[in-house]
Amino acid sequence: SSTEVEQKDDHFEELFQRLQPKKPVAGGLVANYQGVWFYADLLQATLTFQKHFKAIDSDIILASMPKSGTTWLKALTFSIVNRNNHSVDDSPLLFSNPHYLVPFLEIYLYKDGNIPDIDSMPCPRILATHLPYQFLPSSILDCSNCRIIYLCRNPLDVFTSLLQFLLQNGLISSPSMSIDVPFEEFCQGIHPYGPFWDHCLGYWDASLKNPQKVLFLKYEDLKKDVNSSVKKIADFLGYPFSAEEQEAGLVEEIAMLCSFENLKNLDCNKEGEIHGAFRVKHSSFFRKAEVGDWVNVLTPSMANRLEKLFQEKLGESGLTL
Ligand code: A3P
Repeated sequence: SSTEVEQKDDHFEELFQRLQPKKPVAGGLVANYQGVWFYADLLQATLTFQKHFKAIDSDIILASMPKSGTTWLKALTFSIVNRNNHSVDDSPLLFSNPHYLVPFLEIYLYKDGNIPDIDSMPCPRILATHLPYQFLPSSILDCSNCRIIYLCRNPLDVFTSLLQFLLQNGLISSPSMSIDVPFEEFCQGIHPYGPFWDHCLGYWDASLKNPQKVLFLKYEDLKKDVNSSVKKIADFLGYPFSAEEQEAGLVEEIAMLCSFENLKNLDCNKEGEIHGAFRVKHSSFFRKAEVGDWVNVLTPSMANRLEKLFQEKLGESGLTL
């Protein structure tokens, strides 16, 4: 294969050693690098990605905080862009978990010093990242036609979803575990890729400054009206649905294909694991998909605290979550 592997970098080990402060969280130690919390492996992959990735105009980058609905956005974008290559009945989504069809840059592709041969990927390349906007390599920002879609979700539901994901994958133990510690960390922004508020504000500001380049979406809006969201994504990416396609019901077909109920029940999503930062079960990406499930996990005072915190952090930005 033409994949190269970068020499294990002693400088990186030194760099990570030097970073302060470090905190133990579920899944390992995180260190603060330029204001953002990283596990060592993800930071190394991020630096390799920043150094080697060359964007091209047709690239599509899907960005999000973990547990914001990334899997759904991957399935939708893949289906919209490839709708002339596969009919809905023989979509690759029926046989592959969406994370293989739209790989994460820093979690899978550039993992362990790997320099993937992404030039051989079919265009348009659809790639994903959980990195904050300011960590994207300059070539993504400079390539005038390369597009970024950011998906955001209510932080109370993100925290709830994250907790359940960690539990399902054995990264925290239940049921004796109290949620006070992870909750406190989340409120302090200490979690991989955190703080959450800086993450969404970075993409929010970029979408206001350059709406042709960055589309800012909310999970709750997709849940409310997925068909409109499918059309919006298609328009933004320059793949608008023709009148004939709309009359033929293609928008609805894609929305149905990518629906939670459909994807969750496919064998490829019920079984198997994917190895990124950790081994995680394919099934753990499909849990409840509800808006407001936080009521089953957070106490009213926790919810109140998190809501106030986000109101304060988002301030006058115009963004509400
Ligand atoms: P819950 O844990 O609240 O159920 P990510 O993909 O970023 O890891 O986010 C996972 C969340 O998105 C989970 O939320 C999951 O159930 C939900 N999800 C996954 N696939 C979905 C789909 N097709 N439609 C709606 N929500 C989906």
